[in-house]
Amino acid sequence: MKIAVIGTGYVGLVTGTCLAETGNNVICVDIDKAKVEKMKNGEVPIYEPGLDVLFHRNIEQGRLSFTTDLALAVKESQLIFMALPTPPGGDGAADLSYILGAAKDISKLVTEYKVIINKSTVPVGTADKVQAVFNENTQVEIDVVSNPEFLREGVAVDDFMKPDRVVIGTRSEKAQKLMAELYAPYVRQGNPIFFMDERSSELTKYAANSFLATKITFMNEIANLCEIVGADVDAVRRGIGSDDRIGKRFLFPGIGYGGSCFPKDVQALAIAAESNSYNFQLLKAVMQVNEKQKTILVDKLLKYYNGDIKGKRFALWGLAFKPETDDIREAPALYIIDELLIRGAKVTAFDPEAMDNVKALLGDKIDYANNQYEALQGADALLIATEWSVFRNPDFEKMEGLLANKTIFDGRNLFDLQKMIDLGYYYNSVGRKLIG
Ligand code: UDX
Repeated sequence: MKIAVIGTGYVGLVTGTCLAETGNNVICVDIDKAKVEKMKNGEVPIYEPGLDVLFHRNIEQGRLSFTTDLALAVKESQLIFMALPTPPGGDGAADLSYILGAAKDISKLVTEYKVIINKSTVPVGTADKVQAVFNENTQVEIDVVSNPEFLREGVAVDDFMKPDRVVIGTRSEKAQKLMAELYAPYVRQGNPIFFMDERSSELTKYAANSFLATKITFMNEIANLCEIVGADVDAVRRGIGSDDRIGKRFLFPGIGYGGSCFPKDVQALAIAAESNSYNFQLLKAVMQVNEKQKTILVDKLLKYYNGDIKGKRFALWGLAFKPETDDIREAPALYIIDELLIRGAKVTAFDPEAMDNVKALLGDKIDYANNQYEALQGADALLIATEWSVFRNPDFEKMEGLLANKTIFDGRNLFDLQKMIDLGYYYNSVGRKLIG
């Protein structure tokens, strides 16, 4: 099939590349000339495991191309995906100007039937708004489809190639048929494609992300309570997770959810409810709890140092909002850094992928180490903010000489408690017994 993908951000690029992988011809469009030029030269603009192999293969085989020319892409394609940003606007609700602007541009270019597919996370009713833009500007028949993405950063290629489910919101039979054909290769293992109306599809995306954010937040509160009552959150997690109705996944407590989706989507759903005169109290509580959770490590530090951390140096392992990505959007590590700097502390950070992004944001406000051990040099304590695999089994002998105080505040529960007792550490993790 012939496909255009408008917007080559994270979602657009993964979508375009993975659609080319099953034999479709995909033209990716972006207004950023420099970025398009780079991609034409074979440069993948984001870090996403497995993407580069597919990216290069499909470019070489002529199925994946890049352009700034929207008219050309629209002309060449029957299916047009929109993967454009929907950042929170001034009022916190999703800003639709990119989506509606692109819809307007496309509507002036169409000369024959096209399916306009929205991949971005958008408020309920957006498909109707996009349709209205087309109705205003053209007589040509088009169908607007809502097709939310459920891609996790770090495993996005797998999530696209083998989705748990595909959600397609459209009442047009013609569009349904084309979408079913497009996704058939991706659901061969028998996973379902759910067809529904546009509004239900749009809400499904928000409901999924808000539910997952709520699940994590619930566990974070259970963890906080565990610390107070002397229970072990790992035991509680296993105890409840084996109930199928609860499920084992997404029950890991930590220092709050971050990233480009959960914080934005939970807020957008709460606001959308509000503007429909519905008070979504649960989501408001989730946001409040998560805000606080992002800096629990700093609260613990302050308690440990009797409220004064001025002049102290902290090693920080992990800057990305989660492992296997260089994404630092809404990363708890950034909130931790802010709180530490405000209180006059110094930070030496290390992250396997996100260092450049943090350097661009914070410059010389903090120090950067070349590896995880170098970060420990002269540090009063180690703080762990991201559960990268390389942090899970460090060389403790090597650490001994560097982290003289043997003090660790772990926001991701990486180490075995008995091991920390044996090694003689002060070890403060989330929802587990305090060691030392
Ligand atoms: C999420 C959704 O999973 C995906 O379906 C959606 O389309 C986009 O948003 P992503 O933001 O890439 O994906 O990350 P995800 O792996 O879901 O993690 C989100 C946040 O929750 C991270 O900050 C992570 O650290 C945190 N988390 C996750 C926990 O704190 N505990 C858990 O058990 C799981």
